[in-house]
Amino acid sequence: MVVTAEQLALLGGTPAITLDQTAAARWPIVEAEELAAIQEVAAAGQWSNAPGVQEFEAEFAAYIGTHHALTTNNGTAALHAAFFALGLGPGDEVISPSATYWATAMPILNVGAIPVFADVDLHTMNVNPADVERQITPRTKAIVVMHAGGMPCEMDAFVDLCRRYGLRLVEDASHAHGATYRGRKIGSFGDVAAFSLQTSKLCPAGEGGILITNDEALLRRATALGHYERLGRRPALATGHEEGVEEDEYDRFRHTAFGYKYRISPLNAALGRVALAKLDARNRRRNEGIQYLLDAISEIAGLTPPQIPAYIERVYYGQPRVRYDAAEFGGLPIERFVDALRAEGARVSGGTQLRHRGGLHTQPMFVERVHWAFHHPANAASVAGARYGLGALPVTDNPPRDRISLPNFPRPTKELLDQYVAAFHKVARNAGQLL
Ligand SMILES: Cc1ncc(COP(=O)(O)O)c(C=O)c1O
Repeated sequence: MVVTAEQLALLGGTPAITLDQTAAARWPIVEAEELAAIQEVAAAGQWSNAPGVQEFEAEFAAYIGTHHALTTNNGTAALHAAFFALGLGPGDEVISPSATYWATAMPILNVGAIPVFADVDLHTMNVNPADVERQITPRTKAIVVMHAGGMPCEMDAFVDLCRRYGLRLVEDASHAHGATYRGRKIGSFGDVAAFSLQTSKLCPAGEGGILITNDEALLRRATALGHYERLGRRPALATGHEEGVEEDEYDRFRHTAFGYKYRISPLNAALGRVALAKLDARNRRRNEGIQYLLDAISEIAGLTPPQIPAYIERVYYGQPRVRYDAAEFGGLPIERFVDALRAEGARVSGGTQLRHRGGLHTQPMFVERVHWAFHHPANAASVAGARYGLGALPVTDNPPRDRISLPNFPRPTKELLDQYVAAFHKVARNAGQLL
């Protein structure tokens, strides 16, 4: 049998993607600046409480366009500090997406309040403002949004909801460093926002997190939770405080904080500073590669990239997805189409192959109501009304199965992307062979 370039690799032909993909996919990117930053901190011997930490906070706050920032040892701690800063506790409800990493919602329980889950929008998989509004009760105190995969939530709708109902807004911006909504950076819409700086994130510090706010009172309270070393030492804060400022209501807790120790390692802060300096350029490179791929793939009838409104500049954390219309391929199941792409060398996934770990509302923590906050008498009404368990959130429970995920290369080359484009066109042209 003669094997031709046009023959699908799945059926014995030659793969369309032959270039090595390791360098394009590698993350984090380690260059001279990252190594020099670590070496500088290491050599100085200040492995705790080094000056670079506050400089990083000032730079991050300036980048987002907020007054204050507080680094933490991870993003989960930053979210905990955010909910604590808002003074939430037993008897309070916070509306959260369920389709998110657990740290968006679990710290709500750890301040004694109850997460009330809202469903997501089918197209963006971001929390749906209409469903959030339906969950508001007299006990609701705050909404937390998460910009899934770097796609900003509809912030006009959430800001409006919070204004109309007198609620506080928290942004979990862990996927969206550098994204903008109507020209404003994500993270600047909430009363308080938290970012993870964990290695896989767009602004990686290794392990780390950062909380930002315009509200100095919130910053002080967030600091009181897990930064005992900054209480009673006002000049150590990144707020421009002068020596000799009167103690505030939190300074007297400097020998205990509120029981947590959340400061970042200066080594991680040093990496974070380098990552922040390179963030826009690195986001641009990812975005250009993804856009190139999406544009070329969208020429194929039956593959449709998501529509992004003109007022949004998204970033990409995780895999971008395109919608697959089986009817355009003679009814070929999406998994078969994806298997053919994989045989060509493409790092793709689709349909039932896509990972779906289930919404948080289906996790034992909520279904079995294990956490102490569920048993606090002040939370009884909230727990009785909670939508926990499979079936409560239709879109979260049944994510779309007609999507193909594409690779998100931090450093793609045009040659590699062109091989991907060729692979998609080849499989699309020859889909009939697979029926
Ligand atoms: C949406 C979201 N929120 C919060 C976090 C928590 O951040 P960290 O891992 O730094 O604690 C993550 C991390 O994966 C995340 O994806």
